Amino acid sequence: MTTFKTAIVVGASSGIGECLVRQLAREGVTVAALARRSAELERIVHDAGADGKNIRPYAHDVTDFASVPGLFDRIRADLAGADGGVDLVVYNAGVMPVVAEGEYNFQKDHEMISVNLLGAMAWLNPVAADMEARRHGTIVGVSSVAGDRGRRGNPGYHTSKAALTTYLEALRNRLSRYGVTVVTVKPGPVATPMTKDLGKLPLLIQPVEAAAGILAHAKAGTVEGYVPAVWMPIMTIIRQVPSFIFRRTNI
Ligand SMILES: NC(=O)c1ccc[n+]([C@@H]2O[C@H](COP(=O)([O-])OP(=O)(O)OC[C@H]3O[C@@H](n4cnc5c(N)ncnc54)[C@H](OP(=O)(O)O)[C@@H]3O)[C@@H](O)[C@H]2O)c1
Repeated sequence: MTTFKTAIVVGASSGIGECLVRQLAREGVTVAALARRSAELERIVHDAGADGKNIRPYAHDVTDFASVPGLFDRIRADLAGADGGVDLVVYNAGVMPVVAEGEYNFQKDHEMISVNLLGAMAWLNPVAADMEARRHGTIVGVSSVAGDRGRRGNPGYHTSKAALTTYLEALRNRLSRYGVTVVTVKPGPVATPMTKDLGKLPLLIQPVEAAAGILAHAKAGTVEGYVPAVWMPIMTIIRQVPSFIFRRTNI
């Protein structure tokens, strides 16, 4: 089991990211919490009580790609000193606007690819380079069961998560030889602001459970971990369903 002293959570102001920050802070990890809504980040620090001293909030929009390397350097210096590295980086930022049946909306697709995929690449490229040079660190990408098939509901979201999963696999294949761990986590439905308008969802879990599962995979160095674990056999079967059958379903 890997232990962490310093961490960065990108996408930390609500839902799963907020719970990740709270759990890490409770465990004594010094954690940088990044998101656009700085008031929410301040609320999380406040609500964490004594653990709040371990949380450093940074207002940041992941689609401001050019600002990422400079901000990463600043956070590393804040957390670990000028020459220090960060032990854990979790890329959790994500958006999933509601897309209606029959809606083909490039603006929504563009936003999802920008936040869910390009933001991850903007962050994890400099993180990977730093961890490779130090021969140390764990990267976690929060992907989704939604990336395992191209489903009819939200083509842009499924594409963004499938591409994120593949990008993380490629990072892992580059970095494992340098002692750097790359973990892909695929949660099923989680009760967060992202899913609040989606009606009844199967096997819905709370964000605190999702965060605990993600951090368990981070510590174990899991290659691809489902949260909860029951999604692994389910998605193994769903991935095998032939296209001519799958396209007739409502999955
Ligand atoms: N909920 C689910 O059922 C589920 C299932 C599988 C995977 N996931 C994934 O889990 C992750 C967390 O989602 P959640 O369910 O916890 O939803 P959420 O509560 O809406 O959290 C999304 C987080 O991403 C941040 N974010 C969005 N756009 C951003 C931007 N441009 N720059 C910086 N941060 C940005 C948000 O912060 P700001 O708005 O303050 O910037 C927020 O902290 C996402 O990657 C999502 O795709 C969710």
